[in-house]
Amino acid sequence: MINQLIHMKIITSQRLALAIGCLFATGLHANDLLIADFEGDTYAPWQVTGDAFGTAPAKGTLSGQMHVEGFKGKGLVNSFFKGDDSTGSLASPEFRIERKFIAFLIGGGKSDKLALQLLVDGKVVRSATGPNEKQGGSESLAWESWDVAEFSGKMATLRIIDDAKGGWGHINVDHIVQTDVKPKGFAKDVERQFTATTRYLHIPIKNDAPKRVVTLLVDGQRVVRNDIELADAAPDWWAPMDVSAWKGKTLTLRVDKLHADSAALSSIEQSDALKDAGNLYREPLRGQFHFSPMRGWNNDPNGCVFYNGEYHLFFQHNPYGWGWGNMHWGHAVSRDMVHWEELGDKLAPDDMGPMFSGSAVVDWNNTSGFGKDGKPPLVLIYTAAGNPTVQGIAYSTDGRTFTKYGGNPVLKQITGGNRDPKVMWHEPTKKWVMVLYVTLPGGKHTVHFFTSPNLREWTQTSITDGIAGTAYLHECPDFFELSVDGDATKKKWVLLGADTAYGIGTFDGARFAPEQSNIRGHRGRDAFYAPQSFSDIPASDGRRILIGWWRTETKGMPFNQSMSVPLELKLTQTVDGPRMTYTPVRELDSLRAKSHKFDIATLKPEDKNPLAGVQAELVELRAEFEPGDASEVLFTVRGAAIVFDAKKQELSVNGHRAPAPLRDGKQRLIILCDRTGVEVFASDGLTFMPMAFQPKAGDLALKVEAKGGTAKFQSLQVHELKSAWIAR
Ligand code: FRU
Repeated sequence: MINQLIHMKIITSQRLALAIGCLFATGLHANDLLIADFEGDTYAPWQVTGDAFGTAPAKGTLSGQMHVEGFKGKGLVNSFFKGDDSTGSLASPEFRIERKFIAFLIGGGKSDKLALQLLVDGKVVRSATGPNEKQGGSESLAWESWDVAEFSGKMATLRIIDDAKGGWGHINVDHIVQTDVKPKGFAKDVERQFTATTRYLHIPIKNDAPKRVVTLLVDGQRVVRNDIELADAAPDWWAPMDVSAWKGKTLTLRVDKLHADSAALSSIEQSDALKDAGNLYREPLRGQFHFSPMRGWNNDPNGCVFYNGEYHLFFQHNPYGWGWGNMHWGHAVSRDMVHWEELGDKLAPDDMGPMFSGSAVVDWNNTSGFGKDGKPPLVLIYTAAGNPTVQGIAYSTDGRTFTKYGGNPVLKQITGGNRDPKVMWHEPTKKWVMVLYVTLPGGKHTVHFFTSPNLREWTQTSITDGIAGTAYLHECPDFFELSVDGDATKKKWVLLGADTAYGIGTFDGARFAPEQSNIRGHRGRDAFYAPQSFSDIPASDGRRILIGWWRTETKGMPFNQSMSVPLELKLTQTVDGPRMTYTPVRELDSLRAKSHKFDIATLKPEDKNPLAGVQAELVELRAEFEPGDASEVLFTVRGAAIVFDAKKQELSVNGHRAPAPLRDGKQRLIILCDRTGVEVFASDGLTFMPMAFQPKAGDLALKVEAKGGTAKFQSLQVHELKSAWIAR
């Protein structure tokens, strides 16, 4: 990798201060007057009220608190005593202002109820608070200071208040001094310039560091702004910022606020390859047959479509953070939905806001006019979640480069909570149909239906909120037709919400008439959300394939979350009406590296484990059995316990239970196990249980047991799978 450090420029009004700031950090200025260092066994001579501060300075982190750092010596003021809800104050004795500045270390929550205050003549003349106002954040203290020259010679006091409760309801303070040296602090609008010579700028990320506003300017024009947890020193990981679109141009990275000695900008390197890529896709918590982004966070799948022989998977992506934020549309393509190639972000936040979820269609008849040379355009329909929150479109004729439509937005704000357009072509009415999630004032969830002749102009046709006010539809709606038990004469429309609860009914091109509403979807533990089905799968294939956001947290990795395996959806008739079934797509069979078939007709409690001879990291286990007089049939897959309770006809996966009825007296199970979880399919796919779970790396054991009686097995197979990322 070639590092090209092109000319660097730090522009700041505090340049001089930066140079001398380092000295200050060690607290060595001979003339400094110490006001308080909080190293004593009590706060005396400061006076305490309430219980937030305890009776003496804290010795670092308090119980239940994230790691506190950046204070001097052993003690500090830490109002997390008894947690965030405790309140109180600390007041200093009077002192004379004899230097130009008062400097201090401060951290904790950001609020006007959390403050270090300077009082002169009984009035608050200066006030400072901590940096954190949202979940996450950091317990790191940093230098701040006040210019107090105007109060020279006056008597003053300091007060530290904590009147805040709830998240970040505490403040940390340490080492308060009077000084004549303008102390090191933040520099504002710090910039560095580059000439774009390679694909990436590598941005250093420290998870949970305070977020900085980082703006990229190209030839002086603002292109994109992101909120980034920049690493001032050693990063946790490097986020690649793709600047290939501006080769040869002058790029400026501007950071709103940076510590004077921060290495965040100076450490940025340019190269064509990902930094630290040696381990890419081999990371210990990288799902090996589930899509996850190379770097950063993903949530919902977006723009799922089949176009020019490729499946396209766009996704909600934070390229510059381990957590949610800076929503871009990441992009990956695959010929089989199993082996994905990530191509980089295609929609970046713009003046209309961050790029929230949406869908994609192939405009075969070029109704939009975006086609070129007879090539039908691929059109993305997305939410720009600014203020107002609107719907926009973007198009491409090669599936690689996308252009946002100049006439955006195509749909104005309805309420603040209108998002996640899913669009489909409705052949009988020859119109585009959009389903859009809309929260009504008062919080009611609805799906609004729109139609369009050309993807650019939309007319509302109806609103659905389920039957009799059962407002079950949460975000990211999907809408498609499925035949019941494969009978093309018996088709039903399915309206699906983000949590996979769904309604079944009919649709006339304008209005959905539900016959059944609020049917429970997947049965996992909150691990599967906002799935989307692929558009434009050829009629000759005829499948409806869904992929979902699989909430698999991967601590310590330079990426976070993943997608489920692609799932084929069907409707099957049950006594309760038609119900949706989920099964893994057959394309996954190509990952089978080694298959084991076990010819056991019966399994008794005393039998030895038939799977004892198999060790596998990536597992597909298939079983068909009749429980017979066994009370339980229990599978252990790398530490995950999957138990069929014959009497209750329930399945439990790691203790989480779901109904799993026998079908024709049989239970058919599919268990997929990757490094981040298990996906379990029971009752011919009527019960789908995606469960995040991290098997121990060394535990490769598999086991099947019958309890309380003998079970009959029609088949039992284990397929050891290979990685979809790495050829072994
Ligand atoms: C669902 C969701 C969507 C939204 C997106 C933002 O997970 O909240 O409604 O468009 O995530 O990332």
